[in-house]
Amino acid sequence: MNASSPTPAPTQASTATLYGGVTNRRVTVRDLAAAKQRGERWSMLTAYDALTGGVFDEAGIPVLLVGDSAGNCHLGYETTVPVTMDQMVMLSAAVVRGTKRALIVADMPFGSYQESPAQAMRNAVRLMQEAGVGAIKLEGGERSARSIELLVEAGIPVMAHIGLTPQSVHAFGGYPVQGRGDEAAHQLLRDAKAVQQAGAFAVVLEAVPAELAAQATEQLTIPTVGIGAGVDTDAQVLVWTDMAGMTAGRVPKFVKQYADLRAVLGGAAREFAADVSSGAFPAPEHSFS
Ligand code: KIV
Repeated sequence: MNASSPTPAPTQASTATLYGGVTNRRVTVRDLAAAKQRGERWSMLTAYDALTGGVFDEAGIPVLLVGDSAGNCHLGYETTVPVTMDQMVMLSAAVVRGTKRALIVADMPFGSYQESPAQAMRNAVRLMQEAGVGAIKLEGGERSARSIELLVEAGIPVMAHIGLTPQSVHAFGGYPVQGRGDEAAHQLLRDAKAVQQAGAFAVVLEAVPAELAAQATEQLTIPTVGIGAGVDTDAQVLVWTDMAGMTAGRVPKFVKQYADLRAVLGGAAREFAADVSSGAFPAPEHSFS
């Protein structure tokens, strides 16, 4: 489906099984574990504010990620690297306030957990207490396992993120596909098993070959969430500004664009400006006598 033939808005019924017929509570990590058992796929979108979070929540998206992609998709940075804990707390709290049913997962930004498990704990607690999210996400496989373990022991649900980890953009020298070649593929599977073993409730697989993602999904008991990882993962995530056509310029190959909001909003703004110039707005019905 492209911008000229937008997909109809999904209804809440699309996630009825995941919600288990319950509509007055938030989705939990246990619901996601049960969905994997049933072989039921689910979707996740990013959200960075109360307004769009509320729209996706009403559309029945069961998991919303306050991604540090806010850096390049919301805050005007080039990458996710400059995003701070204070910014993540503020954005995550807004998404929590704007939603009722989705599980809200907040990203731990660059520099907020790599130093030590104790640092990861301090900052994850901020996201849980100050923003009120239901889970956190952090990047890294084997290298983050100890931190994941500590957070999970403390009762903090953790989503892991392996494959292409955007906080390492400067080390990667860009955003290359990961897991190509035998050694890289084995490392990806080791990372996936390490985060599962550490207690993560799900793992994002970003930009990895579809066959490798399928293999990981088959070998893990926790749900895999794919982005650029083919069709066989348990769930799919997209950055909302990419999937709705708000991103300026090129989007990655793995993005499907379901709307052309940039054109719609730009058109509305141009029409408003033209109406103001011509005196067509405000009309009598927009004015008080
Ligand atoms: O920050 C983000 O949006 C993410 C997704 C790409 C999974 O980590």
